[in-house]
Amino acid sequence: MKRLIFLGPPGAGKGTQAKILSDTYQIPHISTGDILRAAVKQQTPLGQKAQDYMDRGELVPDNLILDLIKERLAQPDANQGWILDGFPRNVSQAAFLETLLTELDLAPDNVLNLEVPDDVLVERLLARKRKDDNEDTIRRRLEIYHKDTVPVISFYDNRDMLKVVKGHAPMESVTASLKKIIEQ
Ligand code: AP5
Repeated sequence: MKRLIFLGPPGAGKGTQAKILSDTYQIPHISTGDILRAAVKQQTPLGQKAQDYMDRGELVPDNLILDLIKERLAQPDANQGWILDGFPRNVSQAAFLETLLTELDLAPDNVLNLEVPDDVLVERLLARKRKDDNEDTIRRRLEIYHKDTVPVISFYDNRDMLKVVKGHAPMESVTASLKKIIEQ
């Protein structure tokens, strides 16, 4: 069983690598970004509340995210392990997850931080053309990343759980680096 948390800035390759490794290890890829984009597309109450924040590159408020992740981790397929991509995104989400996993008597096996220089991230995101991949929103997402998400790296580093992987490399070699750590 593998329980993996992927950290990294927008465009680091979290989603790309999580998809590959979710197939490899047959565990669900739980992306809060994907869940929110599906909710926006279906215009559910969650989607209607989240849309503006996402379009601006701001974090969706924790009160919309925390129950969502708790419910997702309670689904039967999550018994097999999981890859969390895009969560936790700030220290309060990380603390919430820690409490939740302690209650469930579970712990993450690895917290993997994908490092990629900002100029490469901007280049990758502009090429992808998702709705929030325009220059203003990318800039805001990077600001929010540095302000709110970088402290999550220290949160896990202080607990000796953090592993760093260079994400500025061909996709296959990033996958190989991740597998090497996960399979240690
Ligand atoms: P989210 O969907 O999580 O977006 P993000 O963190 O900005 O991440 P990205 O999907 O942009 O990057 P990625 O690291 O997954 O890279 P990818 O593999 O796609 O969040 C979107 C929004 O939802 C947030 O702004 C927020 O509003 C909200 N949200 C989500 N979670 C939240 C939470 N927990 N709390 C509050 N709000 C939340 O790759 C990017 C591109 O690079 C692709 O085109 C890919 O093909 C390419 N690429 C990948 N790897 C490589 C490589 N090695 N070499 C070359 N190109 C590569």
